[in-house]
Amino acid sequence: MKYKGIIFDLDGVLCSTDRFHFEAWKQTAEEVGAPFDETINMKLRGVSRMESLEIILSGSSKTFTDAEKERLATEKNDRYRKLLAQMSPAVRDALTALHNAGLKLAVGSSSKNAAYILERLDANRYFDAVCDGTMIAHSKPDPEVFTKAAAMVGLAPADCLVVEDAAAGLEAARAGGMDCAIVGTAPMPFEPTYHMQDVTKLPGTIL
Ligand code: BG6
Ligand code: MG
Repeated sequence: MKYKGIIFDLDGVLCSTDRFHFEAWKQTAEEVGAPFDETINMKLRGVSRMESLEIILSGSSKTFTDAEKERLATEKNDRYRKLLAQMSPAVRDALTALHNAGLKLAVGSSSKNAAYILERLDANRYFDAVCDGTMIAHSKPDPEVFTKAAAMVGLAPADCLVVEDAAAGLEAARAGGMDCAIVGTAPMPFEPTYHMQDVTKLPGTIL
């Protein structure tokens, strides 16, 4: 086996939360009179909440105080949390197969909702460690969240595979010295180690 551990991004990999981020940000964009579409949404993947807000506000002709930005981010997060759904049984089966193969499994997410989401999905039991947006100073494409996750499971970066759906995540994995499997169809700046439709294909690809 080439790897000793797998570090999973959360949004868009373990659960389809990217759709809910899109819906929640769309309302923010409408409120501030900024354009918003799938292309702009793609730029928000893997990026922190406040940095995402700044990207949206850059399309507005208005200026915003820090207090207004806090309010916009909080209202977006309230809408987003109401939309969260369930984890698919096929994803659970994939995680179980990887765990049974002796791999350490971790989450490496920029989200500050990661603990809330994993609890709500009843998914904590699959992971040996969770590193999230509350534990890092720099979000992807900085490698911090992945190198910390690797350290939390006691592995060298070179022994870990990152699973991502975002260009920022692919760049973060490379900067951290890790292979990367990309799921989905988002455009990538360079070829990942593996490319697959979704995370359920991972056991068949690497085991
Ligand atoms: C990442 C998502 O996982 O988390 C981004 O891909 C999101 O789209 C970021 O902006 C921060 O999420 P949260 O849950 O802290 O608002
Ligand atoms: Mg993602």
